[in-house]
Amino acid sequence: MADTSYMARKSVADIVGSADAHGTHSLSKTLGATSITAMGIGAIIGAGIFVLTGTAAAQFAGPGIMLSFVLGGIACAFVGLCYSELAAMLPVCGSSYTYTYATLGEIFAWIIGWDLILEYAMGAATVAVGWSGYIVSLLHNVGINIPPALATAPGTVIKLADGTTATGLVNLPAIVIVAILTTLLVLGTKESARLNNVMVAVKLVVVVAFIALGAFFIKPENWHPFIPANTGEFGNFGMSGILRGSAVVFFAFIGFDAVSTAAQEAKRPQRDMPIGILGSLVICTVLYILVAGVLTGLVPYAELNVPDPIAKGVDAIGLNWFSILIKIGALTGLTTVILVLLYGQSRIFFTMSQDGLLPPLFARVHPRLQTPHLSQILIGTIVAIVAALTPIGVLGEMVSIGTLFAFILVCGAVIYLRRSDSNAMRPFRVPGVPVVPVLGILFCLLLMVGLPRVTWGRLVVWLVIGMVIYLSYGRNHSKLRFPERH
Ligand code: ALA
Repeated sequence: MADTSYMARKSVADIVGSADAHGTHSLSKTLGATSITAMGIGAIIGAGIFVLTGTAAAQFAGPGIMLSFVLGGIACAFVGLCYSELAAMLPVCGSSYTYTYATLGEIFAWIIGWDLILEYAMGAATVAVGWSGYIVSLLHNVGINIPPALATAPGTVIKLADGTTATGLVNLPAIVIVAILTTLLVLGTKESARLNNVMVAVKLVVVVAFIALGAFFIKPENWHPFIPANTGEFGNFGMSGILRGSAVVFFAFIGFDAVSTAAQEAKRPQRDMPIGILGSLVICTVLYILVAGVLTGLVPYAELNVPDPIAKGVDAIGLNWFSILIKIGALTGLTTVILVLLYGQSRIFFTMSQDGLLPPLFARVHPRLQTPHLSQILIGTIVAIVAALTPIGVLGEMVSIGTLFAFILVCGAVIYLRRSDSNAMRPFRVPGVPVVPVLGILFCLLLMVGLPRVTWGRLVVWLVIGMVIYLSYGRNHSKLRFPERH
């Protein structure tokens, strides 16, 4: 008898079993801890460090943005441990959506799947806006000037170099990059893994070079005051500014969870997954703190609210060739992140569609290209429109709050599954359950508290829209609840 309640949940055995039946387990197990760590770094380093560090330092935290990164890193470490347990235990694609289906049931799985659109699709839009800032800056170096109004969201006031202002109309470069990458993803991804490795290496070299070279040009007076006094408003500098800064730069850590989708290809998931997830997190956290330190040491923090803050830092050093190199590196790095996020979004929709919660269109695969072409094109179109029309700050905060919410459910899932499926195979176990997942939940909540009320309001509206869609489509088409209808 099918369970037709909204809380119907897939059993762990079914999920693992169906992965076996679909041959997921026969995917070659080729990834070692190093490749998984590299994959994580590829997905993590992007607009967070290349763009949002500057905006968050200028608007919220000052040089104290370094502490914001420490706080964000701690929160992600707890969540990363939880992801490691679930990834090794349920090695299937779909990430936290699948974990939730197995624990809290269908309605929560839908909520998280819907919420993940904020992380993946909105995340891709955010990074595309970051990409736009750097390409405009690079083209300027080679004598091509894109009118600022055509590279900025409508209504945003831009301060020009000559002291005058302009108002944004549309972000055209953001549309261009999303269109190019969507085309690549529709055509196939076989070659992209190798290209991705090269691009990851380029971005790492650039980040390390920025730290190593920039360190010699730091003016320590730029670090004073380290935590600028609060202006009287929550989140505007002071301790609450550090908190808001963490919530904003939390965006920089997003992506480590994408590593969990490689669990079935890991040679030894019990060892490689936690090393890969936590290793990439630790490396990125250290790099982030150093970049934030060097950047705020090179340029007075108040001047960092620009689309290309790292380039501004390099300009302060005064080496023009290095500035161009940094911009190319940043563009490469941002490209890999957009690619991973657009890809991830289509695969999550694919799984949700196979479960009947989304229309079959999202699971349709092109016969020759073997990619979910229609879904990918639809996603690309929406992401391009959002990126063209929305400022990066608004997007980044939405992505952060949506992802934090998803992370809370993942931590909850670990605690729940330990009780409901205590005998399931757990190749990796989070130490100290329930303390570690509870700490993960509390840290994520703390960061969410740091975000402005308007962002909370947007999250609620987003979740309500999702609920309406579930009630009018998913609940009637769910394969789990109505297997006979399929
Ligand atoms: N962490 C990724 C970035 O910063 C999403 O771009």
